[in-house]
Amino acid sequence: MKINGKQTRSIWLEADGQTVGIIDQTLLPHRYATLQLKSCDDAAHAIKSMQTRGAPLIGAVAAYGLAMALRADASDENLERSYAALLSTRPTAINLKWALDEVMAAVRNRSREERVAAAYLRAAKICDEDAAMSEAIGKHGLKLIEEIAAKKKPGERVNVLTHCNAGWLATVDWGTATAPIYMAHDKGIPIHVWVDETRPRNQGASLTAFELGQHGVKHTVIPDNTGGHLMQHGEVDIAFVGSDRVTAQGDVCNKIGTYLKALAAKDNGVPFYVALPSSTIDFSVNDGVAEIPIEERAGDEVSKMTGRTASGQIETVTITPEGSPVANYGFDVTPARLVSGLITERGIVPANSAALAKAFPDHSSRKPAIKRAAG
Ligand code: MRU
Repeated sequence: MKINGKQTRSIWLEADGQTVGIIDQTLLPHRYATLQLKSCDDAAHAIKSMQTRGAPLIGAVAAYGLAMALRADASDENLERSYAALLSTRPTAINLKWALDEVMAAVRNRSREERVAAAYLRAAKICDEDAAMSEAIGKHGLKLIEEIAAKKKPGERVNVLTHCNAGWLATVDWGTATAPIYMAHDKGIPIHVWVDETRPRNQGASLTAFELGQHGVKHTVIPDNTGGHLMQHGEVDIAFVGSDRVTAQGDVCNKIGTYLKALAAKDNGVPFYVALPSSTIDFSVNDGVAEIPIEERAGDEVSKMTGRTASGQIETVTITPEGSPVANYGFDVTPARLVSGLITERGIVPANSAALAKAFPDHSSRKPAIKRAAG
């Protein structure tokens, strides 16, 4: 990913080999600033406050969080306590639990002396693996864009609609839903992205638009309720979204509003694809609507808006009447029947139990390193 033309990842280990660097996503797009995480508490705070966010990235930050916890105290008690503290930061994205389980498996049977190095090593590998998975997702998804481009007149743009931020800011590099877009752009395919603003936290308007702009990809930010209209008028060729948890039967949990886009896509014959690494698949749940815990966040995120004034000040204003209650559900579930396909690092997989089990036999039969309910 490029920031001001410079190749950057969304998480890195600082030169001391201990401190973890991240981008403070709460300041984007108006300010680019980085943060140094020095402890498990710092990592937990960054995830909870959404300084860092996006399913794969919070997994990577949590993995380093556990490593930093062990550096402070490598006892079993602290390992358990820190695992629980990090797991409780956000309830919906399964990558968090997956990454914590991976680090736990790497350290649990080791001596205290060995644990710190083993945890840092697994966390670093989680980051590298995530970047590689996103790149593979990009290559598979690119084929879908190429097929659409091949049917168009020369120079005619391919219109993609996306929701929330499933870009490199939500992963370690490339992004999931955005990886095919960046690859298509780099190949010279004229591509244009309709960016859902994604109320209430505006991850589309603030983050997806920022990263597409940094990469030079043409895009237009739209209010969340515009996608259906655009689809009815033939202005959307394909929809790409990310996911926070995909169930064994292919139900897709993603940022609130994704379900409505999938319904509109179905009604208009627009292909609706979900891009995800295998660390997002939770084979322990089937029915996403019934079984996935949906995060409910503070009402302030709905009743207030923050932005930059004409004089360059960042200000927060209230947009609802005093005393009006608000509800703030973070995610919804799109049933598998509305999903055209799951773009994974192993290829495009139909959203159903048989296809997922066949594509990921090693994952579907794998027992978690430590069995706990997420959330
Ligand atoms: O609440 P957030 O901003 O962490 O939610 C993120 C999303 O819903 C993303 O679209 C999803 O995590 C996919 S990330 C590749």
